[in-house]
Amino acid sequence: AAHIADDLIDVLFTEEDIHRRLSELAADVERDYEGKDLLIVGVLRGAVMVMADLARSFSRHVEMDWMAVSSYGSGTKSSGVVRILKDLDTDITGRHVLIVEDIIDTGLTLSWLVRNLSSRGPASVEICTLLRKPDALQMSVDVKYVGYDIPNAFVVGYGLDYAERYRNLRCIGTLAPAVYS
Ligand code: PRP
Ligand code: MN
Ligand code: MG
Repeated sequence: AAHIADDLIDVLFTEEDIHRRLSELAADVERDYEGKDLLIVGVLRGAVMVMADLARSFSRHVEMDWMAVSSYGSGTKSSGVVRILKDLDTDITGRHVLIVEDIIDTGLTLSWLVRNLSSRGPASVEICTLLRKPDALQMSVDVKYVGYDIPNAFVVGYGLDYAERYRNLRCIGTLAPAVYS
């Protein structure tokens, strides 16, 4: 059987790189939320690995919940219109919420999600993403914690998929164009 890493043309971040960066972000979060309760919200499915490793980098207590969203629209570009497939189980009224993502590409999913969660009366809503692509910088969405800014290439691994594959790759790498063209 083919090895999962065979289709990469390079490795952007090793598992060690990712763990080191996430523990730095976790330290920032711990400092910023000292004395406050914290609910981290993972966006299914890409954020599963980031949630698991970020949460375990904390020495403090943290609650975890999940949302699943899907953006309407045809083709590969997201329309910015988002539908909730699985909502939070938690009432976030008065809570400090930190949304956790694997990647911000256009920023459309997250700008919608921030608006949606903000309308529920939380104490605060912030964003933590492992990766951010250049287009996201044009969106008026404030991202408090960013692991890495990356160029516009097709990256997979560590939760990031292409056609539901490569999520279970430990590193993050660039997918060979031959695979998707
Ligand atoms: C990917 C990624 C982000 C979103 C970013 O999720 O995990 O959630 O796209 O795109 P945007 O900034 O352009 O809105 P996807 O919709 O592929 O679902 P998945 O997490 O299940 O892979
Ligand atoms: Mn996602
Ligand atoms: Mg995806």
